[in-house]
Amino acid sequence: MMSPHKRRLYPLLVLSLFVLFLFSYYHSSLPHTDITNIPSSSNLPQSRNNIVQKFTLTIKLLAFDRFDSISRCLHSLANADYVNDRVNLHVYIDHFKETNQSSILDEKLEESHRILDFVDKFVWKFGEKFVHFRTGNVGLQAQWLESWWPSSDDEFAFVVEDDLEVSPLYYKFLKGLIVNYYFNSSNYSPSIYGASLQRPRFVPGKHGNKIQLDTGTRLFLYQLVGTWGQLLFPKPWKEFRLWYNIHKAKGIKPVLQGMVTTGWYKRMGERIWTPWFIKFIHSRGYFNIYTNFQGERALSVSHRDAGVNYGKTAGPDSNLLDENSLDFSYLEMQPVTSLKWYDFCFREVLPGKVVRSSDELSSLLYSARKKYNTVILISLHRTSQEVTMNMLCHFEKLNIQNYIFLGPNSDFLNDIARRGYHVISTESLVNNIKGFRSKKFEGSDMLNEILAKAYIIKLCLQLELNSWVIDGNMLPISNAMFSDLHDTAYYFFATKDSDILFVKSSSVSAKIWDDSFIDKVVAKASSSTNKSSKDHGYLGNAITSSLEENNAKIKMVGELSFGEKVDVKNGNQTHVSEGTKYVIWSDEMALDFVSSRLDNLGMWELEDSSCKAVVCHQS
Ligand SMILES: *[C@@H]1O[C@H](CO)[C@@H](O)[C@H](O)[C@H]1NC(C)=O
Ligand SMILES: *[C@@H]1O[C@H](CO)[C@@H](O)[C@H](O)[C@H]1NC(C)=O
Ligand SMILES: *[C@@H]1O[C@H](CO)[C@@H](O)[C@H](O)[C@H]1NC(C)=O
Ligand SMILES: *[C@@H]1O[C@H](CO)[C@@H](O)[C@H](O)[C@H]1NC(C)=O
Repeated sequence: MMSPHKRRLYPLLVLSLFVLFLFSYYHSSLPHTDITNIPSSSNLPQSRNNIVQKFTLTIKLLAFDRFDSISRCLHSLANADYVNDRVNLHVYIDHFKETNQSSILDEKLEESHRILDFVDKFVWKFGEKFVHFRTGNVGLQAQWLESWWPSSDDEFAFVVEDDLEVSPLYYKFLKGLIVNYYFNSSNYSPSIYGASLQRPRFVPGKHGNKIQLDTGTRLFLYQLVGTWGQLLFPKPWKEFRLWYNIHKAKGIKPVLQGMVTTGWYKRMGERIWTPWFIKFIHSRGYFNIYTNFQGERALSVSHRDAGVNYGKTAGPDSNLLDENSLDFSYLEMQPVTSLKWYDFCFREVLPGKVVRSSDELSSLLYSARKKYNTVILISLHRTSQEVTMNMLCHFEKLNIQNYIFLGPNSDFLNDIARRGYHVISTESLVNNIKGFRSKKFEGSDMLNEILAKAYIIKLCLQLELNSWVIDGNMLPISNAMFSDLHDTAYYFFATKDSDILFVKSSSVSAKIWDDSFIDKVVAKASSSTNKSSKDHGYLGNAITSSLEENNAKIKMVGELSFGEKVDVKNGNQTHVSEGTKYVIWSDEMALDFVSSRLDNLGMWELEDSSCKAVVCHQS
């Protein structure tokens, strides 16, 4: 793009380059700066665009053999407002499939040459135009996957298939999204992989049911990828390409039980790419930005022309939102924290942070109280990532939602919080509550864990919540395990030799469980000689003996009176005996053994370190 004002701008350009050089020299970790994007208009200093565009956007147009489609699509792209930004256009033209019917062959050759000629002559004045003409038919999967390998973290791709038509407003909207949700650090989320401009339509975990959304939601996050106008963020896309490479090479198929898209994969196989991407997104817990404009409007519509996806033309899926139909400010973008997030079941998810203080814990329990009367506190201190992930999948299957994890600080803990699970950092919580405890406390990890648990139980009692405290080395058979005890006459319930404890909310238990009781539990634990970190009975013993000293009404049961041990002896058993409420295993047991044993019982839900199924429940 040659500017008539080039000469006048020259000194300014030199100066800018110099400033940019200094800037990038001192901030080499900052996103690279695209110097080609200095706006060429003479109102440079006043313009909002004088913040040199930090990113590059490339349109990836995937075309095939439909002349009318590609022509409509290109015209709509060229008709959009690019606000003086440089935007590249890359066109990938797939080859027709081999044929030996000479009549069709001539027609096909003619059509493809007509398309090439049209694309060649098409003037793209907003940036570079590049055409990739295939020598053989590769299909949609390779067209999508090979269209992009990001070369930096501030390069974006907007992928359009040729039967799409975009709104003239589409680019301004995409730019708004990138500036707001990628470059504004207070709005950035590592969970977001891009944005779809198509109208959201179906729920893949619920047999493809139609989406039900209230009209007040204009922007939201949803796990599903959209193939009709999809903006891709560089990091997740690169991550996906590497993931795909590994899975493809090892022959691991993108099967995700419970998803309508898995049925598509079984029918269409490698002709489509979405099942691969969906499986990847599911394993990572990532989300896509979507719009919800009233009146079935969208910034990108598919004409659903006859071709690879449609046997015959189905017509536009939505109404194009343009300047004339604009009756709201479409560039208004809420902070990411006030957007709603939906999973593949279109169930709302609340991506969170690790709870690190007493205040954060109170507000977590306070919001739990609005929905549940019991919380399940699960210690991850002696639990591997795989077993934890399996527990998450198992709970999803059983529709158990009222649980909170307690664990050591780690990337894994942060990651499960990002995915929307409730997580408490033991160490941070203990450091925070130490500050307002009368008794000085310098504890081992084990004592930290005991103090944290005892403190959380106290807060639960204050909020009139029952609490279960369990370890990660067990799995309930059904969700009845956690509701059956509500009517018991006892206020406390514990298993001998293992860390399963139930504390019933009552004024009596709240009275017992005060600060001095917590001190007593901690003191008992620290004087104990059984300080092996592997000893699950450690906490249980400290609490139950303290309770007994306080003459609390406590029911003690043998570990195996309603649980069953996963053992070498019963390794091939495929079901538990009647009345069993949970299975439990020792930490010494190898992961392989635990997983195969649980698999025999139908309780190993992991495949390739993520849930093998999406299970949607009636909400
Ligand atoms: C070409 O014709 C032969 C014989 O009619 C047929 O068996 C073959 O499948 C055809 N090939 C293609 C690519 O259509
Ligand atoms: C970044 O996002 C926050 C939260 O939405 C907003 O208050 C702030 O103005 C944004 N900053 C910029 C530079 O746009
Ligand atoms: C320590 O362990 C022994 C044997 O495992 C047990 O009998 C004893 O009750 C434990 N002591 C405490 C204080 O937990
Ligand atoms: C479990 O099954 C395998 C294979 O059928 C067999 O070799 C093994 O002895 C069985 N183990 C037990 C404890 O029954």
